[in-house]
Amino acid sequence: MDLLRSLPDTTLLTELDALEPFRHDESHLVGHVPLGVVRPRSAAALRELVRLAKAEGFGLVPRGAGTGKAGGCVPTARTVVVDFSAWPGDLNVSSQDLALTAPASALLRDVKAAAIAEGLFYPPDPNSWESCALGGTLATNAGGPNACKYGMTRHWVLSVDALLEDGGIHTFGISSVKSNAGPALGQLLIGSEGIFGLIVGATLRLTPLPREYATLLLPVARWEDLLDLPGRLCGAGYLPSAFEFFDPAVLAELRAHGPEEARRLPGEALAILEFDERGCTSEPFLEGLLDLLGPVADGLEIASDERQRKGIWAVRRMTSAFLKERHPKKVSEDIVVPRSRLREFFAGLDRLGFPSVSYGHLGDGNLHVNLLAAGETDPALLERQLMDLFRLATSLGGTLSGEHGIGLAKRDAFLALSDPAHIQTLRALKRAMDPAGIFNPGKVI
Ligand code: LAC
Ligand code: ZN
Repeated sequence: MDLLRSLPDTTLLTELDALEPFRHDESHLVGHVPLGVVRPRSAAALRELVRLAKAEGFGLVPRGAGTGKAGGCVPTARTVVVDFSAWPGDLNVSSQDLALTAPASALLRDVKAAAIAEGLFYPPDPNSWESCALGGTLATNAGGPNACKYGMTRHWVLSVDALLEDGGIHTFGISSVKSNAGPALGQLLIGSEGIFGLIVGATLRLTPLPREYATLLLPVARWEDLLDLPGRLCGAGYLPSAFEFFDPAVLAELRAHGPEEARRLPGEALAILEFDERGCTSEPFLEGLLDLLGPVADGLEIASDERQRKGIWAVRRMTSAFLKERHPKKVSEDIVVPRSRLREFFAGLDRLGFPSVSYGHLGDGNLHVNLLAAGETDPALLERQLMDLFRLATSLGGTLSGEHGIGLAKRDAFLALSDPAHIQTLRALKRAMDPAGIFNPGKVI
């Protein structure tokens, strides 16, 4: 599209070969070829982009590092991809305010490292944190293993800078946890997947860096034995900073074909538990924990040093990419049930009767149920299987997405399973904030 050449401070891609990679994220979806990919570097570029989008009737699809799992940055028809990787801005930590300011283009790995350099901690940690961009984590309200203690990305955002439909960049929130001057519009933008406006930066909340970690491997012979543990631990005052699991099929595949560290993992099924509070490596803490776990803890192993801890986490972090490499057409789901209902969920999944394997964030009930045979399954049947899975989760007081979002992948199911008043309210907000419909059209609602 020639008009895009007039944008100031912008790199423009229009060659078909260059556009091709932008049709994908890390979901199973393939989008339209975009009209172009723009990499804006100034507020003037974004202002002109909004003007052109309205005048010419094309949509703007925001993109960070493309590691999303629900097709949020996959182009729909007649759209331009707005790639924020060149968006300027520095990382600044204020240790007095316990705050960190960063542009959307910053890699999450660099955000976390900037906090650590000051003895501080930014907890949100999707497993893609080595490669994902902050902007994407904000737009999708990313979760990850630490959410079970620390919550989601939205709990760590003090203020958001976003491009709105007037073409200007506006800031919502201040550098303090206390900010109560009216409803929190910034929170509406976090997790909105770019349908109300495009996030260009944020000020994040920090907390002191944990000084101590107890990382435990809990192998079990019958993996169902793990299902009551998250609830029992929380009920007894033990709050893990992570409680992850692999079911027998995922563990067997990791052990047979995964990296060196994976080959040594014990058990038929396995949980990884981590605590990060002061005193969590002390004898009284660990003895109390063992008492609470009872016989299920017979094979418990404690990571003896930081190298072993990092090895365990490296295996956990690569699990999604590993399974995708082995089963390129798999569909990976992201349902949630309250942790007190995990057992009922898996009994229900058994009754549904379709083949699936599971791993994920047992501690907060956020489970990655993977349909490895999705590529060979009749599409109508696959859709029914996914709807059955989502209905099962919602029937137990859960939901169809814990952390990956709705994007394109779950839009139909989201519309079908939500309270109509919820959808109507979201659509009314969309009309009010984006009357021309330029921001990430065709996503979420
Ligand atoms: C994970 C990603 C898939 O937990 O959310 O590995
Ligand atoms: Zn996950």
